[in-house]
Amino acid sequence: MEIHKGLDGVVVSETKISSIVENQLLFAGFNIDDLVAENVQYEEVIYLLWYLRIPTNQELADFKQDLAVQMSISETIVTCLKIQTRQNLHPMSVLRSTISLLGVFDPNAEETDLISTYKQSIALQAKMPTIIAAYARLRKGLDPIEPKAELSIAANFLYMLTGTEPDEIQITAMNQALVLHADHDLNASTFTARVCASTLSDVYSCITAAIGSLKGPLHGGANERVFDMLTEINAGNLSVEEYLNQKLDRKEKVMGFGHRVYKTEDPRKKHLKKLAKELSALTQKEQWYFLSCQVERYLKDKKGLIPNVDFYSATVYHCLDIDSDLFTLIFAMSRVSGWLGHIHEQKEEDCLIRPRSHYVGPKHLSYSKIDTELQSGGMEA
Ligand code: ACO
Repeated sequence: MEIHKGLDGVVVSETKISSIVENQLLFAGFNIDDLVAENVQYEEVIYLLWYLRIPTNQELADFKQDLAVQMSISETIVTCLKIQTRQNLHPMSVLRSTISLLGVFDPNAEETDLISTYKQSIALQAKMPTIIAAYARLRKGLDPIEPKAELSIAANFLYMLTGTEPDEIQITAMNQALVLHADHDLNASTFTARVCASTLSDVYSCITAAIGSLKGPLHGGANERVFDMLTEINAGNLSVEEYLNQKLDRKEKVMGFGHRVYKTEDPRKKHLKKLAKELSALTQKEQWYFLSCQVERYLKDKKGLIPNVDFYSATVYHCLDIDSDLFTLIFAMSRVSGWLGHIHEQKEEDCLIRPRSHYVGPKHLSYSKIDTELQSGGMEA
């Protein structure tokens, strides 16, 4: 039995949604560099990932209308969010539980026909930014803000977060970040969603599972830790070199660096680095950009490590005034489009994902029944 730890290099399915070809990331055949250069709207990318083609003007307008209708969240969900504002709960756990609750309150959550699945997908995609923004405000003692149907997902999210309509630069940055995170081959959270979908479970369960997977620091959770690290270095007790050397000597992973697939460059990084540079200059927060560049240079020279998507996105979100413990939620708010596309594709493939493991524990042990009377007596004593 050959073991592929971490499924490294294992191909488990075919997909038409996204691919990594010669260090380029393609969405349904379109290079993300071209999509970003054309400033494609995130809504169009969602359509592309679900239908594997660019929509017509009318199709995009109808699609946006379907999303707009579903953006609001109920008072019950707001009440549940309020209950979850206690301090020691991570916002990703709040998102996971709240997405699960959307399924509880959807009377058609168990329906799996095409129309119901489309409605569930639109609801999940449309409500996620509203849930995140509402939670961000509630935990500061502020009332949630209703989404505006005429705004894009990127603009609406920033508006619901702050109560002020963002300017064009902020909208472009947020939109590009959403586009760049929308899908990425068979990453851990997408695989989780596909495993769940392969059992023919419902869409809400698949997305809940995927959020749990994205939360971890080796995956989407890295962006929050990147900002923790930059903050620690910025506090100034150690130089960049001393700080990173100590980390590497302790054999700790530097968050936002390294990638299972990319070994020379993550194609999303250059776009996020450019955004980080522009936004940090505009917001007088350049120290985070310069510090990030220093960290990047040192780790490249010292260990050949390259930044991944999570590294510069931390500075981008910080410059958009977003709290660092919400960074991974923004990742989820974008990646949900890819997850939904993959869930549908997996269901069409109709094949249970069920690998094997190699057992290495003891075998053929002889069993003697536990003396429960003696045990409970012991407990009482
Ligand atoms: N910091 C320090 N060393 C690293 C890092 C890092 N971030 N990443 C890889 N390395 C080293 C490993 O220690 C290993 O060194 P060795 O050969 O001397 O033992 C070598 O590079 C190869 O690393 P692997 O762990 O084999 O690479 P793998 O493909 O398994 O891991 C992973 C990829 C998990 C992303 C890893 O690079 C990591 O933990 N990075 C930090 C967390 C992170 O940023 N995650 C986000 C990834 S992108 C995303 O999910 C959206």
